[in-house]
Amino acid sequence: MASPVAREARSPVPMANPLTQLSLAELRRRTSVKWRQYADDVLPLWVAEMDVPLAAPVAEALHDAVGRGDTGYAYGTGYAEALADFAARRWGWSDLAVDRTALVPDVMLGIVEVLRLLTAPGDAVVVCAPVYPPFYAFVSHADRRVIEAPLGADQRIDVSALGEAFRRARADGRRAVFLLCNPHNPTGVVHRRDELEAVADLAGRYGVRVVSDEIHAPLVLPGARFTPYLTVPGAEDALAVLSASKAWNLAGLKSALVVAGPHAVADLRRMPEEVGHGPSHLGVIAHTAAFRDGGEWLDRLLAGLDHNRELLGVLLARHAPTLRYHRPEGTYLAWLGCTALGIDTGPVGDEPGVVTDIAGPARLFLDRARVALSSGHVFGTGGAGFVRLNFATSPEILTEAVTRMGRAVTEHHASHG
Ligand SMILES: Cc1ncc(COP(=O)(O)O)c(C=O)c1O
Repeated sequence: MASPVAREARSPVPMANPLTQLSLAELRRRTSVKWRQYADDVLPLWVAEMDVPLAAPVAEALHDAVGRGDTGYAYGTGYAEALADFAARRWGWSDLAVDRTALVPDVMLGIVEVLRLLTAPGDAVVVCAPVYPPFYAFVSHADRRVIEAPLGADQRIDVSALGEAFRRARADGRRAVFLLCNPHNPTGVVHRRDELEAVADLAGRYGVRVVSDEIHAPLVLPGARFTPYLTVPGAEDALAVLSASKAWNLAGLKSALVVAGPHAVADLRRMPEEVGHGPSHLGVIAHTAAFRDGGEWLDRLLAGLDHNRELLGVLLARHAPTLRYHRPEGTYLAWLGCTALGIDTGPVGDEPGVVTDIAGPARLFLDRARVALSSGHVFGTGGAGFVRLNFATSPEILTEAVTRMGRAVTEHHASHG
């Protein structure tokens, strides 16, 4: 029988929803962390990998490269050109200049290299908490200090908290960066243009440089619109990091791009040449094909994710109505408030940032429901009492997972009054 990838790659008829192509048995044959971290009776809805076959144009580009034995080092600006065309088509970002880009191994290593260009050891990096745990881990590992600016109660950027964090970061005249997550992981908030303008204004006033992680940008769902940070007035000295990795499920095919605003070009030029040795040639080939030819596949994925986003709301209302669900505007991540369970996350010991650490509600769902979610406490301040659920899976798996979670919640409420 043809593998699902081959079926998708060869099919003359465009397939429908990429999220409905693979059975649980097929997915369990995968060897990536999502499928191997937990035992076989656990449904893994944690790390940001999607349960999809490769998009046909990406699979074809990789097959062709392997057929040619084209497995040397990466070269050229094809990835940046494909991204620039995609950005112009999708987001109206018409001045993404290829000569203001640099190829980096992946988004997080790209961010670290940009931090090295803009700051010195001991300088501060401001993040809006709760946020993607590696923002803490990579920043600390690069000897920079994390300063948190908590999100508002509406889970959107709180400008006054951000201003206070910028003030602290710049005390003693030290250099500082704001590491923006645009769209925001884990809440799925897509920052509006007016919000980003307020960020740029604040950053300009305090002399804080902005680095915008836009890895989830292609995953903005119907109803919201992505604003590239570099298109906002006042963001000319910012840098953005983009990649096809999340939207086309290419995390194992390493590469990403840093894009400098016009006033950050001199900074980007100081990027050491050896950083460009990190991305994989096959990664660059795959990411280029995704941005260049993967639009139709992406549209089908977004329709599937939109469906799952609604389904998740229905399932939670039916099986676990005490959990709070903030419908995400983008990403395939749902940030579920579980404080009604009354589970104390307890002394967790670890710093935020350890993605595999499980405590509090996530521990209940793992032990009692056999559903693996990301534990909220590793996302920093404001994360305890939440879990992050990855809904980039089939409606069947999502239904089974939430049904099991609902049973665990019911048993928990019954045994705890
Ligand atoms: C906001 C954010 N940045 C970066 C990454 C990781 O990207 P990469 O694997 O390219 O370092 C992720 C992965 O989920 C993410 O959500």
